[in-house]
Amino acid sequence: MNLTALNKIAVAMVAPGKGILAADESSGTIKKRFDSINVESTADNRRDYREMLFRTEEAMSEHISGVILYDETIRQNAKDGTPLVKLIEAAGSIPGIKVDGGAVDLAGAPGEKITEGLDGLRGRLKEYYDLGARFAKWRAVIDIGRGGDRSMPSYMCLRSNMHALARYAALCQEANIVPIVEPEVLMDGDHDAERCYEVTELTLKLLFEELYFARVALEGTILKPNMIVSGKKCAKQAGVEEVAEKTVRCFRSAVPAAVPGIVFLSGGQSDEDATAHLNAMNAAYADRMPWALSFSYGRALQAAPLKAWSGKPENVAAGQKAFAHRAKMNGLAQLGKWSESLEKAA
Ligand code: 13P
Repeated sequence: MNLTALNKIAVAMVAPGKGILAADESSGTIKKRFDSINVESTADNRRDYREMLFRTEEAMSEHISGVILYDETIRQNAKDGTPLVKLIEAAGSIPGIKVDGGAVDLAGAPGEKITEGLDGLRGRLKEYYDLGARFAKWRAVIDIGRGGDRSMPSYMCLRSNMHALARYAALCQEANIVPIVEPEVLMDGDHDAERCYEVTELTLKLLFEELYFARVALEGTILKPNMIVSGKKCAKQAGVEEVAEKTVRCFRSAVPAAVPGIVFLSGGQSDEDATAHLNAMNAAYADRMPWALSFSYGRALQAAPLKAWSGKPENVAAGQKAFAHRAKMNGLAQLGKWSESLEKAA
């Protein structure tokens, strides 16, 4: 492990005004996204769509520090034969790779999930490094019980998932790949923001304990968490200021200062909410945060370009314009310089 090199990558992933594009939808997830625009999910269509994003020069070179790819994409060439990885590198962005095998039912814990993918991971990481990946992602899924059911998440679910994240992270660092550790507390459900705070804080405390015991160097690690928000079905929705205050308070209590950066997932928030929340944190709390705070959005960066493109070659420019806009808005939010009027001006 070369910690100096890992730290350099991690710091570059959270460079000022930049964040990460999560374009690592699995075959099943990208099919769902394509279904929403009535486009068939073929290898060529997936290539055309992602090539459109990676060739959005303004977004990629100014606001996207890195791109998380799926196994198919890291091996795919653009229409003209250039590897997609090379397009990303040419824009000055860093290629990354999703390496988890997805979440399956956790035995003994009805309704809860465990993320698989550790078997053979050492070999796959070596191959991904050779293909150009300099960081990786592993997502653990934590669901909060409905109707005030406090038995979910169970301790077993939290402990098992955080342990798997730590084993993954150690293997990444051995391969000189920066691990993004992603413990996602879902915003599905009817819980309030206070309960999200509680569960997220416990999740993070257990995660950093596991990372410590697994001898993972935090200087070469990036955290990808949810924000502290109300469940989608909660009658009382926390406003932007409340989300910002609770999220920063929670992370200050649970995330060591040695971590270079925290990059949020959007998790089903609207595009504008995801931007407004990130902006509010960076605008009001920058002097109280030891780490950089940025984005690693999937849906909140891609929903607009996906719709604008709709699978038609004549819409590529419109898709790129939509992507450039969202990337710019989130880049500004990373600096705490976004405003609703800038959103509307475009
Ligand atoms: P969303 O921003 O759509 O939640 O996706 C981010 C991600 O990579 C989830 O693993």
